[in-house]
Amino acid sequence: MDTKANPIEFMLSTLFLGLYLKGHTTLAADTITANQSLSGDQTIVSAGGNFELGFFKAGNSSNYYIGIWYYKQLVSVQTVVWVANREQPVSDRFSSVLRISNGNLLLFNESKSPVWSTNISYPTLGSVQAVLLDDGNLVLRARSSSSLPLWQSFDHPTHTWLPGSKLGFNTVTNQTQMLTSWKNSENPAPGIFSLQLDPNGSSSFLILLNYLNSSSQYWTSGPWDKKNQIFSSIPEMSHNTTYNFSYVTNENESYFNYSVHKPKTISRFVMQFSGQVWLLEWSPEPFKQWNLAWSKPNIYGFCGPFSRYNQTSSPFCTCLNNFEPKSQSEWNLKDYSGGCSRTTLNCGNGTQDQFKPMPSTPLSKSEQVQVESIEDCESFCLKKCDCTAYGYGYGNTIGCFIWSGDLLADDNGNTLYIRVPAESKNPARSKRSLVIALVSAIAGLLTITSGYFLWKKTLRMRRKRRTKYGEAKINVGEENDTELPVFGFKSILAATDDFSEANKLGEGGFGPVYKGILPVYQAVAIKMLSKKSGQGHQEFMNELKLIAKLQHTNLVRLLGCCIEEGERMLIYEYMPNRSLDRFLFDPSEKRKLDWRRRFRIIEGIGQGLLYIHKYSRLKIIHRDLKASNVLLDETMNPKISDFGMAKIFDTNQTEANTNRVVGTYGYMSPEYARYGCFSEKSDVFSFGVLLLEIISGRKNAAFYRYEHSLTLAGWAWKLWKEDRGMEVIDASVRETCQPHEALRCIHVGFLCVQEAPADRPTMSSVIHMLQADQGTTLPPFKKPAFSTHRNSSAGGSSSQTSTIFSVNPLTISILEGR
Ligand SMILES: *[C@@H]1O[C@H](CO)[C@@H](O)[C@H](O)[C@H]1NC(C)=O
Ligand SMILES: *[C@@H]1O[C@H](CO)[C@@H](O)[C@H](O)[C@H]1NC(C)=O
Ligand SMILES: *[C@@H]1O[C@H](CO)[C@@H](O)[C@H](O)[C@H]1NC(C)=O
Ligand SMILES: *[C@@H]1O[C@H](CO)[C@@H](O)[C@H](O)[C@H]1NC(C)=O
Ligand SMILES: *[C@@H]1O[C@H](CO)[C@@H](O)[C@H](O)[C@H]1NC(C)=O
Ligand SMILES: *[C@@H]1O[C@H](CO)[C@@H](O)[C@H](O)[C@H]1NC(C)=O
Ligand SMILES: *[C@@H]1O[C@H](CO)[C@@H](O)[C@H](O)[C@H]1NC(C)=O
Ligand SMILES: *[C@@H]1O[C@H](CO)[C@@H](O)[C@H](O)[C@H]1NC(C)=O
Ligand SMILES: *[C@@H]1O[C@H](CO)[C@@H](O)[C@H](O)[C@H]1NC(C)=O
Ligand SMILES: *[C@@H]1O[C@H](CO)[C@@H](O)[C@H](O)[C@H]1NC(C)=O
Ligand SMILES: *[C@@H]1O[C@H](CO)[C@@H](O)[C@H](O)[C@H]1NC(C)=O
Ligand SMILES: *[C@@H]1O[C@H](CO)[C@@H](O)[C@H](O)[C@H]1NC(C)=O
Repeated sequence: MDTKANPIEFMLSTLFLGLYLKGHTTLAADTITANQSLSGDQTIVSAGGNFELGFFKAGNSSNYYIGIWYYKQLVSVQTVVWVANREQPVSDRFSSVLRISNGNLLLFNESKSPVWSTNISYPTLGSVQAVLLDDGNLVLRARSSSSLPLWQSFDHPTHTWLPGSKLGFNTVTNQTQMLTSWKNSENPAPGIFSLQLDPNGSSSFLILLNYLNSSSQYWTSGPWDKKNQIFSSIPEMSHNTTYNFSYVTNENESYFNYSVHKPKTISRFVMQFSGQVWLLEWSPEPFKQWNLAWSKPNIYGFCGPFSRYNQTSSPFCTCLNNFEPKSQSEWNLKDYSGGCSRTTLNCGNGTQDQFKPMPSTPLSKSEQVQVESIEDCESFCLKKCDCTAYGYGYGNTIGCFIWSGDLLADDNGNTLYIRVPAESKNPARSKRSLVIALVSAIAGLLTITSGYFLWKKTLRMRRKRRTKYGEAKINVGEENDTELPVFGFKSILAATDDFSEANKLGEGGFGPVYKGILPVYQAVAIKMLSKKSGQGHQEFMNELKLIAKLQHTNLVRLLGCCIEEGERMLIYEYMPNRSLDRFLFDPSEKRKLDWRRRFRIIEGIGQGLLYIHKYSRLKIIHRDLKASNVLLDETMNPKISDFGMAKIFDTNQTEANTNRVVGTYGYMSPEYARYGCFSEKSDVFSFGVLLLEIISGRKNAAFYRYEHSLTLAGWAWKLWKEDRGMEVIDASVRETCQPHEALRCIHVGFLCVQEAPADRPTMSSVIHMLQADQGTTLPPFKKPAFSTHRNSSAGGSSSQTSTIFSVNPLTISILEGR
């Protein structure tokens, strides 16, 4: 958003400034009087040398705008804080003129047409002048009096909120001061995001998304807490002596303004075109750059219709398969708001369209259709040519929902089925989109149950057949008793039919997972670690060593590995029922999980965790427990999988710290997400979230659609407090469950998601509580941790903190640059 400094332009502007003032007027250089005009390279500078006004252009664009920026002595990178003619640029600044005309300040373009005006309805005729003040305010006032301004730029902010100016509304004048994002880095015209004070008087700031003539709320700061002088949902702005916000409300107006207490701190709030509000602080010599001190909301960026956000890819937004950017040139300018459009459309044309599942929650309006099943929902959408997607079971409602026209969606929550051309058209691309859809669901690995016995059997067989299958043994432990079969690359190639697409089960966080048939084991799941994947050698060996030593009915079994030709693979039992989330969050599958099964699954996961925490030879913290990492065998017995993130503790060790926070948003405990501090208790937290998901059949991630909304735990707690605990239970098992058992589970869940690790039980007391007799009193719980958001306050320090937030169910890393 900030324009690049152009040294020549600066030189010229200061040069012209001198000439121009001598030639025209005796007035100070901060003022445009009735007899003056400003054009070309000319600028005016505020009396104290803080701000400068003149023509500027943004980036490579050839358009010029009248703007106000910090004077170069203060901020050496040209940073525009206000723009006059946002929507009406001029192309030749030397023949365009800014001057006072009939009591207004007007900008005339090269053909002498007015393109921008202060637009005062009843202008004061006579001597009016425009003065640029040291706070960055451009004021139009009668020359004779120094009284109230006739007009001031502070009443019409653009995308930047400066200290001392108001953001709010006045019911007498009908004026609203709001920030509106630019369209992109080269175009200051109003973009789709605005930040304003809630007109309903709730004293909350809202970010509105203005799209297709309608505006919807994208984020809220939460109301102002007068007593504590903070916004309830952004506590990191509290107890802070650098920024002093004050809220003024009376019969005529309501507004906020703020001041900066630290001397010499130059800061500004900006509504970014990505949809975030940024607080930036200038770092002077030797850094000479703006530092991001704070930003909200954490949902980063916004991708427009049929486009997906991915924080690790460049650009951030990519079109869905079979879609392409509507405007490649806007795309190049990092303006993704236009989104993508279909490359082909087949409706009513012989070739049938198809639907691809995507994890997303549409922001646009849907239509509910009264049909019985997901299949009927699909065929209804298929028949309707303008139906672009359908979903079955949205938010809190079960049923068929369809969307038409352009579809805006964020990246989490429910499964949306998007219309795409039939597969045969472009098999490669379509398959990829299917894989993407599978990604979130099967980040894990798949198996058969009889693993343990097979394992024993094959250990024996392996010894006989080793040479035949090209196996070797790898010793993975200090003790010599754990041997892991190593398979040759050739036998893996044969087992997977040369890694054929047909055998691909999905794509995990680190690479594809294939089904294979190995002579000894029959069906296996082969997890391939892509070379460019984040899982390095260390993680690979980690997973290898850990799992080879773990033997428990509730942990997935590693059968062998392959390290050859630069390829690294892990071979697991194959689990035909795949992962828990496939059942839990699918309206048509969740019926298979009756109350008994759910309770057994909770117990099983608990036993698995207890084993790795306490009873295995090593003390292990899993760090990435979630529904997609729990696999189900034929009898729906749960097995914890994916130990790629796990850490071994010394037996006496209770906690550790890391700079590299890995895990999944929503399942991470607050102390881990914020400070990288993990322990058994961070697994207990994840277990609590998972437990609540199993009971409620709701995805924790679905609660993150808007940042201000509650977490799953928060939602459940609210119901509990209102004595509506039964409503937390998934409707499909509510009638059939044992109420005391279900409510006890919820109670245990709350204990597990307590804010303070010390308040959370250990896994052994969790198991104990789950199995306790009816009537046993459980320990009381406090309000659970509602949010695991990391505070992204880098302050004015020179270090760059990059904090990556994700709400999608994939495992993510939060990397902290040092
Ligand atoms: C401005 O111009 C008008 C006529 O064009 C002249 O009468 C007046 O004296 C000028 N004022 C100044 C301050 O130069
Ligand atoms: C602006 O121009 C420079 C130099 O011609 C070029 O490298 C850069 O990519 C351009 N930026 C955009 C956004 O087109
Ligand atoms: C100047 O503005 C007028 C009105 O907006 C427009 O019709 C005209 O084309 C503009 N002139 C140039 C050279 O852009
Ligand atoms: C000036 O105000 C009138 C009506 O109040 C409006 O129609 C017009 O668009 C405004 N012009 C500018 C340049 O803001
Ligand atoms: C302010 O807006 C309201 C409703 O939009 C309207 O009734 C009222 O006349 C307006 N007042 C002024 C001073 O423009
Ligand atoms: C403000 O009030 C109106 C009418 O009462 C209502 O429709 C709207 O949803 C409210 N907006 C917010 C943000 O609460
Ligand atoms: C939005 O409003 C403008 C002007 O009122 C209209 O021309 C346009 O068709 C509208 N767009 C949509 C999608 O409704
Ligand atoms: C914050 O600003 C308000 C109003 O400007 C003022 O009354 C208050 O003393 C200030 N607080 C601090 C800590 O400076
Ligand atoms: C509100 O506006 C009215 C009329 O302009 C004025 O008389 C009154 O003093 C204002 N009230 C406040 C608190 O500013
Ligand atoms: C995000 O982008 C990275 C790098 O381009 C890619 O490896 C990864 O698979 C993408 N994630 C998703 C969910 O598409
Ligand atoms: C139907 O498909 C043909 C060939 O693929 C194409 O030329 C034609 O435009 C399509 N018709 C419609 C209505 O999409
Ligand atoms: C206040 O915030 C600034 C910037 O966000 C930070 O540098 C400073 O350390 C904070 N002060 C306190 C007391 O939290």
